[in-house]
Amino acid sequence: MPLQIVRNDITTMEVDAIVNAAKRSLLGGGGVDGAIHRAAGPELLEECRTLGGCETGQAKLTKGYRLPAKYIIHTVGPVYQDGQQGEEKLLRSCYRNSLALAAKEGFETVAFPLISAGAYGYPRDQALQIAVGEISWFVLNHDMTVYLVVYDRQSFQLSKQLLDDVTEFIEERYVREEDASVSASRLARETREAPHPCYSIRHGVFPKKKKPSFVPPDSAPLAAPAPTSVGAVPNLDAMLKQLDESFSQSLLRQIDEKGMTDAQCYKRANVDRKLFSKIRSNPQYKPSKPTAVAFAVALELNWAETNDFLRKAGYAMSHSSKFDIIIEYFIQSGNYNIFEINETLFAFDQSLLGSH
Ligand code: APR
Repeated sequence: MPLQIVRNDITTMEVDAIVNAAKRSLLGGGGVDGAIHRAAGPELLEECRTLGGCETGQAKLTKGYRLPAKYIIHTVGPVYQDGQQGEEKLLRSCYRNSLALAAKEGFETVAFPLISAGAYGYPRDQALQIAVGEISWFVLNHDMTVYLVVYDRQSFQLSKQLLDDVTEFIEERYVREEDASVSASRLARETREAPHPCYSIRHGVFPKKKKPSFVPPDSAPLAAPAPTSVGAVPNLDAMLKQLDESFSQSLLRQIDEKGMTDAQCYKRANVDRKLFSKIRSNPQYKPSKPTAVAFAVALELNWAETNDFLRKAGYAMSHSSKFDIIIEYFIQSGNYNIFEINETLFAFDQSLLGSH
């Protein structure tokens, strides 16, 4: 996964470089700066003394010394005042200049803390949004794995609105495992007893007035295949052929149908190139569920198409899984921003989308 959000102590991470949220003197301090200097040992301070400080928004490189990381990229975040003093621009420069320095040095793995989100007082949800925005843009255009290290849960804050919306969506749908069978059989019984002319759980035909809140995965309607050319009516043998295609075949077909390149698709899916070539070369490849869902998001499938696509990988979506419900929330709201989805999955302690 090119962008991973992890909970960790950045000083323990074995990567090419960790990024330090330093002060302009580069002579150490508290927070993550203090932790890095303590873990790296006194040689770090000696090297920092030779650098002559660092301007806010800029980045400078030193060795990692006793750290598991080979190098440290020191950057200085803005002190947040009122958001009107150019703080956002400076914070974005921290990420851009650090990533540009990492790319110049040929680093393949880099770990960031949430710059300025501690002592420098940047509102955490905005600091997170800026970090994810800058890093995700970068990894879409570079082959690098970037970790966004969240040290403590409270420093990880989704925007309040998003958190409230997703929580409400889950509460409306979440059924515990043991209740799921009850609600499905009750639904089936109600359907048998009071058969609705156009509602049959077997055929997945839904009442005209509204979609049922719970769609048993095996009854989701088959997604009508995309027309073979603009405006053409999908033909029966194309539909039958799709029934038999594997996950990998379906993925490659849909990439072509949507006019995407392989790279556009796997980068949007937050999947690395190596995994994608495994899927491409093995028609029977079975991806993990987060990877299969990541490709559904990258292809911007609707909910029915997503269920159909996942079934080809051997997975069903259900309301007894918070992961599935969060995915349903984003797909039903047409939000295919995989990094925003991952922030939310992370906030709910769920697996993240991308290569696993
Ligand atoms: N690993 C990962 N993240 C950490 C760690 C750690 N060991 N320790 C702290 N953090 C997180 C904090 O939870 C916060 O989210 O790093 C983020 C940045 O917090 P600070 O370290 O306070 O950095 P910042 O807000 O940029 O302030 C920098 O503080 O320590 C001084 O010398 C530093 O003057 C500079 C200022």
